Amino acid sequence: MESSPSTPAERRSLNAHLYHVSKTPDDLRHLILDISRAAKYISYAIQTTEAGLAGTTNQFGEDQVKLDVLSDRIIEDHLRESRLVASFACEERPEVVDLDPKAPYSVAFDPLDGSSLVDVNFAIGSIFGIYKGKSVLGRKPKEQVAALYVLYGPRTILVYSTGKGVHEFLLNDVGEFILLREYLGVADDAKNFSPGNLRGVDETKGYRDVVETSLTAKLTLRYSGCLVADVHHIFSKGQGLFTFPGSAKYPTGKLRLAFECGPFAYLAEQAGAAASDGNGHILDLTIESVDQRCPLIIGSRNDVKKVCGMLNA
Ligand code: AHG
Ligand code: MN
Ligand code: MN
Repeated sequence: MESSPSTPAERRSLNAHLYHVSKTPDDLRHLILDISRAAKYISYAIQTTEAGLAGTTNQFGEDQVKLDVLSDRIIEDHLRESRLVASFACEERPEVVDLDPKAPYSVAFDPLDGSSLVDVNFAIGSIFGIYKGKSVLGRKPKEQVAALYVLYGPRTILVYSTGKGVHEFLLNDVGEFILLREYLGVADDAKNFSPGNLRGVDETKGYRDVVETSLTAKLTLRYSGCLVADVHHIFSKGQGLFTFPGSAKYPTGKLRLAFECGPFAYLAEQAGAAASDGNGHILDLTIESVDQRCPLIIGSRNDVKKVCGMLNA
């Protein structure tokens, strides 16, 4: 049930929710609030920065748009100022970046997900996975203590979990994230389908069967090309299936474990959904490197199971 953001009496702030509902430890609560402040600056930058290329490429050889670089910088500044982050791993840096060795947390983030869509004015996002400890390397996504994403669309939405359910917030007119919906859940059967990497439909055994089965089942196609938007669609509608298997160009998948698949796998499990690399749970994979990729099948449990069966038939 959406609370009307205009009635102050019912307004539930992100801070109050982290404290009262999720009973989040104070330092983790403050880190999440610092991240949410960075998201406000990114939301504003998306509205005001020209959409052009930065003229540089990241470690993956992908052209960086100005907003990739700016978002990365904004988030680093907020993590550094928090004094709560020992190191971070992010898409725009080839190595883990050390901040404060005495700090309790490490963060994996994708500063701007779907950035190739900035010029077409599609919704784009930021993704964060938070671990207790000095580095995300060597960890498994199931060890995260929090995961959150921000979706910069017609409205700016923040969705978080610290292990007590998945909760959705709206950035209101005075710049505060206020509660929209609590305990988002995902049904076991999908009616929507979000098929990524269709270029590789005949390069991954079984993927064409997956796509044709979805057509026969008359699933509704919902695919934007932004992972945050496409998976938020599943959390928001309470059902759905997103697939991004490997292919010739991306033998181990295109999406990165540390800052794309890992945080979403944590949120999926909290929402009663599933996230697999086609063979096993994403939550159980070990993060060996910042640029490690993996296939992603995420969403309604029964459909994730079915697709994994077809990809391994
Ligand atoms: P990023 O913009 O952070 O590099 O992520 C883009 C990813 C993800 O958002 C999306 O699911 C996928 O790329 C789409 O890939 P294609 O454009 O190859 O379909
Ligand atoms: Mn990105
Ligand atoms: Mn991304």
